[in-house]
Amino acid sequence: MKNEIRIAIDGPAAAGKSTIAKLVAEKLGYTYIDTGAMYRALTYKAIGAGIDLDKAAEVEALLPGTEIVLKAGADGQTVWLDGRDVSAEIRTDPVTNGVSAVSAHAGVRTYMVDAQRRMAEEGGVVMDGRDIGTAVLPDAELKVFMTASVEERARRRHAENLRRGFDSSLEQLAGEIALRDKKDSEREVSPLVQAEDAVLLDTTSLSINEAADAILELVREKVD
Ligand code: DC
Repeated sequence: MKNEIRIAIDGPAAAGKSTIAKLVAEKLGYTYIDTGAMYRALTYKAIGAGIDLDKAAEVEALLPGTEIVLKAGADGQTVWLDGRDVSAEIRTDPVTNGVSAVSAHAGVRTYMVDAQRRMAEEGGVVMDGRDIGTAVLPDAELKVFMTASVEERARRRHAENLRRGFDSSLEQLAGEIALRDKKDSEREVSPLVQAEDAVLLDTTSLSINEAADAILELVREKVD
């Protein structure tokens, strides 16, 4: 590959972004950056501190004393909060259900967006989130907006839960996913929206490999 570009992948919850972004990064030898994990880490800290997640000032007061580091490891990326590995904790239900409130605060977004821009400075990154193509890397060389039907996204999350060893209700998952979509799309600061120059990729009927191949083809068009 001639030059190392920046790839922005946005889209609603559970559309397959992280799985596919990881695979694309692996195939290109790029760095994968999961921006949702950073919002999740802060949410985890706020819950632990007993803070009302809807109170912007209280959540934002945590930021100066917070260190969030994404580390690339043999088994994928790990997420470190103030020197502790919280990769598992940030995937629990209280965090998943609280993260939309935390990520809606303007001060939180400014802080995260600045950090994420610094992480992408060198190029050669695949970054996934909700506002990468619109706010974090508006001049990214390739932008993909990844979607899938709510039913398919709930089905995938359910299968993932079963693989991890716990059961869940498909109907409840669909409800939670739809609610998170609504909150992320309707918030005032950097709502989830497809960038004008993003390529829409609907993964409803695509396998992981097919979706990754579609992105790799787009990358080839950019760099060849
Ligand atoms: O990708 P994820 O489900 O781990 O993201 C968790 C939440 O973080 C998501 O509901 C909205 C928020 N988020 C955001 O606002 N901006 C990003 N760039 C990434 C995630």
